[in-house]
Amino acid sequence: MNPKVVVITGASSGIGASLARTLGAKGHRLVLAARREELLKSVANETGTDTLTVVTDVTKRNDVEHLRDAAIERFGQVDVWVNNAGRGTGKTVMEVTDEEFQSIVDVVLKSTLYGMQAIVPHFQARGTGLLINVSSTLGRVPFVTYRSVYSAAKSAVNILTANLRVDLASKYPGIRVSLVLPGMVDTDFHRVARTPMRMKAGERVGTAVVLSAQEVAEQIASLLEKPVPEMYIPAGAAELAKQYYQDVGAFEARMARW
Ligand SMILES: NC(=O)c1ccc[n+]([C@@H]2O[C@H](COP(=O)([O-])OP(=O)(O)OC[C@H]3O[C@@H](n4cnc5c(N)ncnc54)[C@H](OP(=O)(O)O)[C@@H]3O)[C@@H](O)[C@H]2O)c1
Repeated sequence: MNPKVVVITGASSGIGASLARTLGAKGHRLVLAARREELLKSVANETGTDTLTVVTDVTKRNDVEHLRDAAIERFGQVDVWVNNAGRGTGKTVMEVTDEEFQSIVDVVLKSTLYGMQAIVPHFQARGTGLLINVSSTLGRVPFVTYRSVYSAAKSAVNILTANLRVDLASKYPGIRVSLVLPGMVDTDFHRVARTPMRMKAGERVGTAVVLSAQEVAEQIASLLEKPVPEMYIPAGAAELAKQYYQDVGAFEARMARW
């Protein structure tokens, strides 16, 4: 295996922390970013590989650029950048406040733009690199109404990701851009976003099974070997998206019956 330098935002818990442990076990060198320094350092201690931690608030462009610079200074290059940091909301369209709207847009959407704009020039200079943006199935199929602005921001992440991929494709074929769309995952996300039902890995909620952060991390890790434009996790969620776009009215009527 060819060890790579991988930057992961939102690596202090959940999917990002599991991804750090998974890639560390494979011998990749890591740069982990988040705001909670102690948690970040304890994840770094569990990776078993050369790992740099950089306290970063991804809503601040300067912090994200500092993260890139610190990674390059330590390892000489970045091969993979994972925009994973994020937070949800538990408010419907009619409940969401200006403050909540702005805060979700900042942490979900602006942070992803900052990450892309920070790392892509480095990838272009090298003619190679892999960018992975962690979105959500809800950014494609907005069927959980209390996620409102979160789903809208993830939807915009999907579009920016697709636009960047197309912009780079002809001139920089060595740069790959992947979008990851997970379903329900058993992480702190649900405590922070006040999910009204239990989210335990392996348990069924509606028609889907809650995933563990480890299952999602393994799927994301597979992109380093075989990058694809988009990855639904689980893969079957692509069928949900197909049904939604085939007939939105029929889909919403079915949802109302559930
Ligand atoms: N859990 C799910 O069901 C689910 C489903 C689909 C998609 N996702 C997406 O998966 C990604 C990871 O979420 P998770 O489920 O692993 O939740 P999590 O355990 O709550 O992790 C969120 C991570 O984001 C970081 N973060 C939040 N705000 C930040 C900021 N301003 N600056 C830097 N880091 C920040 C947190 O670190 P600090 O607090 O230490 O900064 C933490 O490491 C998110 O993009 C989320 O939207 C989750």
